Amino acid sequence: MSWFAQAPSNIALIKYMGKKDTEQNIPINPSLSYTLSNLLSSVNIEEHPGKKDFWEPLDIPGALPFSLSKEGQERYLNHLTRIKAIFNHQGAMMVRSTNNFPQGAGLASSASSFAALTKCAVKALSDLTHKEIFSTEAMAKLSRLGSGSSCRSFFTPWALWDETTVTVPDIPYTELLHQVIIVNHEEKKVSSREAHRRITTSPNYPTRSARAIQNLKALRHAFQDKDWKSAYHVCWQEFQDIHALFSTCKEPFSYITSETKNLLTRLQDLWQTENDGPLITMDAGPNIHVLYRPDQASMAKQFKQKHLIGNHDVF
Ligand code: DP6
Repeated sequence: MSWFAQAPSNIALIKYMGKKDTEQNIPINPSLSYTLSNLLSSVNIEEHPGKKDFWEPLDIPGALPFSLSKEGQERYLNHLTRIKAIFNHQGAMMVRSTNNFPQGAGLASSASSFAALTKCAVKALSDLTHKEIFSTEAMAKLSRLGSGSSCRSFFTPWALWDETTVTVPDIPYTELLHQVIIVNHEEKKVSSREAHRRITTSPNYPTRSARAIQNLKALRHAFQDKDWKSAYHVCWQEFQDIHALFSTCKEPFSYITSETKNLLTRLQDLWQTENDGPLITMDAGPNIHVLYRPDQASMAKQFKQKHLIGNHDVF
């Protein structure tokens, strides 16, 4: 028997950065993300003789090559072990996975890959043990234990994650145009998991959760009022806030390169001249995510032609 599942990535506008509980991945503040339905992870599971689980890349004709580091494979298979224990199942499995987007592009691949693994493993194990399949909410909770941000990938178009619960907030922008501008293809030097750990020593950390809650409130108001410009300002402030945690902790690090700065300035210029533009955000990586409203499609195209083509990959 063989099982297959897919899950999308997501981009947070109010970020999950800092944990109340590192075992359970309980965040110090609520986060809000937009689901990226075109950026998918795929997982296939088969039963395997013996006792040990294995991982290998899933081969999809025409797809980009995919690999996982030793630690990455271990973390992924540990999550499978966790799910197998819940179902009280001992049989070994072969897990194959891939993404339809390039690796190391800062596209939050852990979110989609852990969500897809959780879905696929729950399917396989409920078949094998004749147990009822989990609800979406239960799968999101289980997936969170593998990687926090993956719990938001079970909901669309928006996901609001607070403590152990994820809900779909009512936001009047249901379809956005997402682009990620690739500044650096390389695998990031500080993983988001490591970032969560390091930032706790920043002098800004004790007050971080209050600022995130404030930003969330302001962003939801801006969306409700269809005040796109205010939404842009809040998103900007929010990603700057987590990047300031990175640079002010005891083992400081930064993802912002001169090229990132240059592009951010171009985007600010666009806002200045048009009095309009995309929402801008950055995760724990050097690449820039932009979200345009559907009526801004030609603006998105023009910006890409003028500033990005020939200089940067855009997905
Ligand atoms: C900066 O979900 O990757 O992308 O729970 O340790 O796996 P773990 O962390 P992870 O953290 C994501 C951090 C972020 C912000 C966000 O997506 O909210």
